[in-house]
Amino acid sequence: MATISLKDVRKDYGRNPVIHGISLDVANREFIVIVGPSGCGKSTLLRMVAGLEEITSGTIEIDERVVNQLEPRERDIAMVFQNYALYPHMTVFENMAYGLKIAGKNRTEIAERVSSAANMLELGPYLTRKPRALSGGQRQRVAMGRALVRDPAAFLFDEPLSNLDAKLRVQMRLEIKALQREVGTTSLYVTHDQVEAMTLADRLVVMNGGRAEQIDTPMNVYLKPASVFVASFIGSPAMNIIEARVAAESRGVVVAGRTIDLDHLRLHLPAVGAPVLFGIRPEHIAVSETEKVDLLLTVSAVETLGADALAHCYFEGGKKGRDFVVRLPGTRTVRVGEHLPVVLDRAATHLFDPESKKRLN
Ligand SMILES: Nc1ncnc2c1ncn2[C@@H]1O[C@H](COP(=O)(O)OP(=O)(O)OP(=O)(O)O)[C@@H](O)[C@H]1O
Ligand SMILES: [Mg+2]
Repeated sequence: MATISLKDVRKDYGRNPVIHGISLDVANREFIVIVGPSGCGKSTLLRMVAGLEEITSGTIEIDERVVNQLEPRERDIAMVFQNYALYPHMTVFENMAYGLKIAGKNRTEIAERVSSAANMLELGPYLTRKPRALSGGQRQRVAMGRALVRDPAAFLFDEPLSNLDAKLRVQMRLEIKALQREVGTTSLYVTHDQVEAMTLADRLVVMNGGRAEQIDTPMNVYLKPASVFVASFIGSPAMNIIEARVAAESRGVVVAGRTIDLDHLRLHLPAVGAPVLFGIRPEHIAVSETEKVDLLLTVSAVETLGADALAHCYFEGGKKGRDFVVRLPGTRTVRVGEHLPVVLDRAATHLFDPESKKRLN
């Protein structure tokens, strides 16, 4: 087991920078999830830690040892990829044992380690089968087992579940979580699936365009996103982000002609009249049951999800179809064209700078 430390790690492909300087300290036994849209540099970052890709500058340490110049096999890490090609002519046992055999371990030790990993992954009954006689989820578990038997200092995962169907993905997600609790090996896990990211991570690294926009626990990222990008990327459906202006006397913000009082954020507001981006998540908006109304909305589309429903709305008097989403309990029926007076949860309001797109409060 080990710590991993990245110090201002950069990567250029030719003259094209793809990682702009990322620093990250991963504690022993910590599970870090690197999440971000396609092409933001997640795999590149992971491959640099693995030693499969050279770094342009910066330092990578594994267990306080600088590994910049070390070959992948000298770094004591195990990697699980999206395309976890198993050897088709080998049984599950042989697939899992292969790395240990190459490393020159003796028969008894190999048998013990494979059997222990197989138990953990509930692969015991399949050890003599060939991969073609396994389901997708079972094959994925063999790939995990192959990494597990090596008992490495750290695991690196690159979208290991993205080839599985939705149901299996959920199941494997829970298994990985349980496994991590049991084995406790320091892990870096790459995904573009934000649910996977939220549920697995001790801490998240939210990446955008080769930069780490925020590094924090899933709940802090959800509650206090550091930028408009993070606010829109984490949380489903995405946070509503609206152009607003600071109200007179800095009482709050003006949205669609209505003043939303934000007394508690007074100190974070720019000058009166200045533009500001105002954010609120769909789940922090409720249909008003009293005289108090923050915004008047008109429903333009409804998505019924069972437990809840998403009402896509526009501001009354505003442009039709403008997308402002409200999450309602599934028991409440809403019709297209209906007017919804809503109130906003003040404790869950977000302010961003329209220029830098950074969080203000
Ligand atoms: N060998 C290479 N030469 C040049 N550019 C590359 C190379 N490998 C990756 N890139 C570029 O680096 C950027 C980051 O790629 P990377 O594979 O790390 O993205 P990613 O976040 O893993 O995306 P995805 O979610 O699609 O897997 C992309 O713009 C990609 O085109
Ligand atoms: Mg990738």
